[in-house]
Amino acid sequence: MKLATRISRISVSQTMAVMEAAVKLREQGIDVVDFGPGEPDFPTPDNIKQAAIRAINANFSKYTPIGGVKELRKAIVDKHARDFGSKYDVSECVANVGGKHAIFNIFSALVDEGDDVIIPTPYWVTFADIARYVNSNPIFVHTKESDGFRLTAELLERSITPKTRLVVVNSPNNPSGAVLENGEFVRIAKLCQDRGVYLLSDECYSHFLYDGRKPFSIGGHQEFKDHVIIAGSISKTYAMTGWRIGYVLALPELISAILKLQSHSTSNPASISQKAAIEALSGPQESVPAMLAEYAKRRKFVLERLRAIPGVKCAEPGGAFYAYPNISAAFGRGGIKNSIDFSARLLEKAHVAVTPGEAFGTNDHVRISYATSMEQLDKGLNRIREFMAGL
Ligand SMILES: Cc1ncc(COP(=O)(O)O)c(C=O)c1O
Repeated sequence: MKLATRISRISVSQTMAVMEAAVKLREQGIDVVDFGPGEPDFPTPDNIKQAAIRAINANFSKYTPIGGVKELRKAIVDKHARDFGSKYDVSECVANVGGKHAIFNIFSALVDEGDDVIIPTPYWVTFADIARYVNSNPIFVHTKESDGFRLTAELLERSITPKTRLVVVNSPNNPSGAVLENGEFVRIAKLCQDRGVYLLSDECYSHFLYDGRKPFSIGGHQEFKDHVIIAGSISKTYAMTGWRIGYVLALPELISAILKLQSHSTSNPASISQKAAIEALSGPQESVPAMLAEYAKRRKFVLERLRAIPGVKCAEPGGAFYAYPNISAAFGRGGIKNSIDFSARLLEKAHVAVTPGEAFGTNDHVRISYATSMEQLDKGLNRIREFMAGL
């Protein structure tokens, strides 16, 4: 069958490939410790579930406006204003079918064929593939492990050219957990504005910050509004990955373009999920710090245990729920040449699933998701230590 060229430019997400390999082993009855999934292990909080049940019982099951009901868009802009001091109007907000869909729509509406899109490494794999899908050129800017994988305006400046259309920033970062300093974020936004390029800020993990650090959004800085685009998601903050609600905050022109596209593709996000999202954003918020406290314990545990493994180095993840250890000390031992080999051997021999750094644009690392129980973390980290010792 002859498929469209655009589809051949992208590949199946390697993060999904790990999940599939782990599932296959599990089906054979093998006890796999899975550090692959990028999703909370908590159930959706009860108040949110009840809101969805009420919506079903009230027959809230018809098409809604393409970009979501006004009540939801208002809940999104109000919550963003409360958390970050931003001032978006409802006309500057569209709800999408998850953050991934938000990002896909932004690229589709904004980036032309042949444009350059700057993506700092390590990056969430989807950014690069969507850039390729719209036939733009992903330009990778390598952040330094010694700087905790944080992008700086100085690093970025060297890569901006007249062909640059969009710069993608994801802080807290998947996979490294790196969090930009607020001042640096502002410098980056100023640079983008001065050079006439758009800055896409993916705020998927905005509420996953540790050591008392407060959430920050560049959307709170009105002075950059003409160049800043926010992609948000309720998936991780409220343990709602399956409900599929994300959003874009941007100038009305971009919102209208996205609505046009959405009107011919997905139409509105699921009506029931919209009601659940309104409750998530406007209802009681206790579940968020409660889950965060749990992640904070796990993060400390994982970091300590990883750093205690001879040869393993791990930059401090300031946010999200991932650790991104450097495992290159294992290269050249037991036939392991890169992090793909490392992950494959670790799964095969020690039955621990991690995601190879190649999926995120670096070769010396693997991603460990600590969105899993302490018991699983303990078991998996023991297995990694024994695996490394036995190489
Ligand atoms: C960096 C980043 N952005 C956006 C998303 C999108 O999440 P969702 O489509 O579930 O809202 C993810 C999910 O893994 C992510 O890791």
